[in-house]
Amino acid sequence: MSNTFSDVVVIDAVRTAFGRAGEKGIFWNTRAEDLCIPLLEALVERNPGFGPDMVEDSIWGVTNQVKEQGGTIGRMIPILAQWGWKIPGCSIDRMCASGLTAVGFASSHITCGMADCLLAGGVEHMGHLPMGFMRDPHPMAEERLGGPSAFNMGMTAENIHDRFPEFTREMADEYAWQCQRKTAEAIEAGSMADMIVPVESTLADGTKVLIDKDQHPRPETTLEGLAKLKTPFREQGGRVTAGNSSGLNDGAAVVLLMSRVMAEKNGFTPKLRWVATGVAGVDPTIMGTAPVPATLKALEKAGLTMEDMDIIEINEAFAVQALYCLDRLGVSPDDSRVNKWGGAIAYGHPLAASGPRLVAFMKGLFAQNPDARYGLTTMCVGRGQGYSIIWENLNRIRS
Ligand SMILES: CC(C)(COP(=O)(O)OP(=O)(O)OC[C@H]1O[C@@H](n2cnc3c(N)ncnc32)[C@H](O)[C@@H]1OP(=O)(O)O)[C@@H](O)C(=O)NCCC(=O)NCCS
Repeated sequence: MSNTFSDVVVIDAVRTAFGRAGEKGIFWNTRAEDLCIPLLEALVERNPGFGPDMVEDSIWGVTNQVKEQGGTIGRMIPILAQWGWKIPGCSIDRMCASGLTAVGFASSHITCGMADCLLAGGVEHMGHLPMGFMRDPHPMAEERLGGPSAFNMGMTAENIHDRFPEFTREMADEYAWQCQRKTAEAIEAGSMADMIVPVESTLADGTKVLIDKDQHPRPETTLEGLAKLKTPFREQGGRVTAGNSSGLNDGAAVVLLMSRVMAEKNGFTPKLRWVATGVAGVDPTIMGTAPVPATLKALEKAGLTMEDMDIIEINEAFAVQALYCLDRLGVSPDDSRVNKWGGAIAYGHPLAASGPRLVAFMKGLFAQNPDARYGLTTMCVGRGQGYSIIWENLNRIRS
């Protein structure tokens, strides 16, 4: 059933809880693949009538494609989930936006008629595979990227503070505090319950536990506490701290996409419609600014403006880059459309998992706000890229 120029719709989007990377992390004894398998099982359970035989490709974003995350994990996940050998799979690397790119590529495959039903996911176990692990940059890479800071994401955030001093440490801390507050409220209200799939994990003492709660949020955060934190990326005069940065995390998320024709023929309820994608490159030493051109491209393709965006999900790699991007897109950081349920500063940012996590948030926020029509998911990417996708809320059309 291949349809040229079909509408692309999201049927479901789920994620694991996000753990802290490292030995104290809830997933320290869990492999990356074992974060993904329960997500596939949940898609079958949650969507009666959906089964592995419908899936035409398994496209997974993963930044560090070595060890347990290597060997084409996108192909291995359905096999390990015992979905058989017939589902092809691949792995995509666009660093932080690897998973959002998987969603974008899946959308383009469906819209041009290459497929009717695809999985687009993202996984990152930053505890087992830290950022930059086993990377071997070309001898000219540092110079061509604009200097050593391009390799260190925290330094790129300090660079944004330098070049755009109107965004201060105080503003970044205030943004981070608001993020923690919104996150705590969303968790308290049960907003995460529908999207988090419990994953079994083994604790240090051998006990097995089901993990269904994010480990990274710090609801006790105060502005005073944030102001006291050290600046690990620059000893003197730094502004970027553990409190106003996203964290180092383990997690996975997946989106089930279909052509609208297939969804309707099989009785599935589409939740979101893909509208447009924009991807852009900027100076790598201020990589966090890239959601601006990426979003402007997506808006132009969609024939829409930021005013039309009723829900804005921006991945907060760092508070300062979120502040910069929102400002340049003409949106106040305390605009109620922005990261209503909080963001990566609180939940954490397991790189490739964060894009599909944003889509899961969009699905939940669209359901909660049926009057909202359009939504934006956008992310910055190391080496200076931005990736944005615009969505339409199909709950609105039904209501
Ligand atoms: C910033 C960063 C280096 C901090 O790492 P870390 O030192 O392991 O972070 P921790 O969680 O241990 O926090 C450090 C300290 O800040 C404190 N802290 C963190 N968040 C806090 C908050 N919201 N309120 C108060 N204190 C906080 C911690 O309690 C800890 O204190 P301690 O040293 O007294 O134990 C790390 O999170 C990082 O590299 N983030 C960016 C990730 C990245 O680049 N991603 C890609 C983006 S493109």
